[in-house]
Amino acid sequence: MPTTCVIGAQRGDEGKARVVDLLADEADVIVRYQGGSNAGHTVMFGGETYRLHLVPSGIFRPGKVCVVAHGVVVDPEVLFAEIADLRARGHEIGPHNLVISDRAQLVMPWHKALDHARESADGDRKMGTTGQGIGPCYADKVSYRGIRVSDLYDRAWFEERLQLNLGEKNAILERVFGLPRIEAAAVRDAYLAWADELRPFVGDAVDRLHQAVADGRQVLFEGAQAALLDVDLGVYPYVTASNSSALGVCAGTGLPPRAIDRVIACAKAYVTHVGSGPFPTEDSGEEGQRMREVGREYGTTTGRPRRCGWFDAVAVRFAARSNGIDALALVKLDVLRGFRRLRICTAYDVPGGRTTHLPASAASVASARPVYRELPGFDEDVSAARRFGDLPATARDFVRAIEAECGVPIELVSVGPSREQVIRRARG
Ligand code: IMP
Repeated sequence: MPTTCVIGAQRGDEGKARVVDLLADEADVIVRYQGGSNAGHTVMFGGETYRLHLVPSGIFRPGKVCVVAHGVVVDPEVLFAEIADLRARGHEIGPHNLVISDRAQLVMPWHKALDHARESADGDRKMGTTGQGIGPCYADKVSYRGIRVSDLYDRAWFEERLQLNLGEKNAILERVFGLPRIEAAAVRDAYLAWADELRPFVGDAVDRLHQAVADGRQVLFEGAQAALLDVDLGVYPYVTASNSSALGVCAGTGLPPRAIDRVIACAKAYVTHVGSGPFPTEDSGEEGQRMREVGREYGTTTGRPRRCGWFDAVAVRFAARSNGIDALALVKLDVLRGFRRLRICTAYDVPGGRTTHLPASAASVASARPVYRELPGFDEDVSAARRFGDLPATARDFVRAIEAECGVPIELVSVGPSREQVIRRARG
């Protein structure tokens, strides 16, 4: 397997964990490179469902090394809860299979407090964040206020950073938002206790990854969120705070661009979105409702109902160009069973005319009216299909139409939630 990056081609929740879990079989090292506990990666196998937020989805494959690289913002409370849950369910987690970068930024209590405070203050105009403190944590990283994992092991320096941050953050919490202050002692005690627990896992992930590549080991990069939520290329400001596309790999791992051989993107056969922001193909009627119920479209991290709509080839085409997507994994095709006709958005009608390119401004995307290509639906149960030829002709036509509209081959189609419910198609 060449060095591969798996990303979401839409607005998140495209089942990346599932594809990572499949590819992890052939990989040696599986790396999370951006995002944090805003991610909710669901893996189902052996009748069990696992929801991961920080630990890479390759953790279920014995003999693999999972790396949380420095592009990730680490919330130790979430990390340890996740490790405890995995151990309680019989999975061995230790320094042999999990490495946390010493350069990773820590999510601190004020990040979560500020995330919640801003969302409440914004009322109807809120972003709909996951409330995990992600935006404030990345903001501190780039404004030189962040606290990194390695800072936990230098007590004097940690104390200095703690006081610097609390002085500033408590002033904002108290004076701007009228909220209680955060006491230094509670934060210090909790983080230094976690520091001891974390120590065996902490390592120089940059060095470990360079070594892995130099040794010819297979590295799999597991993206979180998705291309349309990328802070630079997504529909700003309705995005997440990191480069949640293949663009984030180099900055988030310290590996050079040529270290990525292939980019595989996951896309649902329809689209879902949590949080606010323009969504041209949203179906707020019966069909969207049906996608939500049949597809069980409720947030993994927040439990929120996801907004649902039709496949948007304008968005996926844009993601394909900017990420150099080599192949798509089309997931949840089974959810579209029983729809009289299926729709693919091929262009947007915007005030200036018709466009096949994703506009830059959220206002333009909000004004876009989708232009649909319609295809006949399928009534057959496709969940037992394991070869492309097992699918009804109408389902195959729908898959081929998406492929043609996006200009990217679809190499994998999923027809149900279990590990084995996939159709692999030959490359080329
Ligand atoms: P944040 O990442 O929690 O700051 O949220 C910013 C935006 O990204 C909101 O619209 C979230 O709903 C969205 N978001 C963050 N993580 C995910 C995810 O894993 N899947 C889907 N949407 C996400």
